[in-house]
Amino acid sequence: MSIAIFASGSGSNFEVLADQSRRQWPKEVSLLICDRPGAGVLERAERLGIPTVTLVPKNYENKAKYEEAILSTLQEYGIEWILLAGYMRLIGPTLLQAYPWRILNIHPSLLPAFQGKDAIQKALEYGVRWTGVTVHWIDEGVDTGPIVDQKPVLVEPDDTLETLTKKVQFVEHNLYPNTVYKLLTGRIPDHPSVSRSSG
Ligand code: GRF
Repeated sequence: MSIAIFASGSGSNFEVLADQSRRQWPKEVSLLICDRPGAGVLERAERLGIPTVTLVPKNYENKAKYEEAILSTLQEYGIEWILLAGYMRLIGPTLLQAYPWRILNIHPSLLPAFQGKDAIQKALEYGVRWTGVTVHWIDEGVDTGPIVDQKPVLVEPDDTLETLTKKVQFVEHNLYPNTVYKLLTGRIPDHPSVSRSSG
């Protein structure tokens, strides 16, 4: 049993998660699900020898059918946990019901501030002194699920989108693998409804 990562973009988070899973975690990242042919993350997976399955939503009749195709792939690989890492789609009921409180996401702001796309840009435009990074469970909303962990990032007066993005990503690459490690090893508590049902 193992972990799948869903990603649409360059995959820097994918790479640190996959790497840490091999070094430290009790379960390994053993599958990449990608929705964009040609995304940078596919090259990274190939380099690390992690199987990839690219499923393009427009090839399916609707979201439910798309997620059913993902689900049968996940079952084939014995996937227990899903980590979203720059996956640019909302998770629908098919996957939510199949993986209750087993889907995590990383978001580049201190939620609930700056939900949705372009969170780093929005933080800069708003003029906050602190932004940060959030790891949270996925529910049916956009970046609304229960928060698991957060880390702040200082916004300095001369920060640009580029410099702030670098700082945020640096923190993401530390927080996301550490949080998953702590969850998998019981160092931070599981979602309460999972703890209740298992114990
Ligand atoms: C990260 O900033 C993550 O917080 C957001 O999408 C970005 C993905 O970056 N959800 P990468 O593809 O992991 O480099």
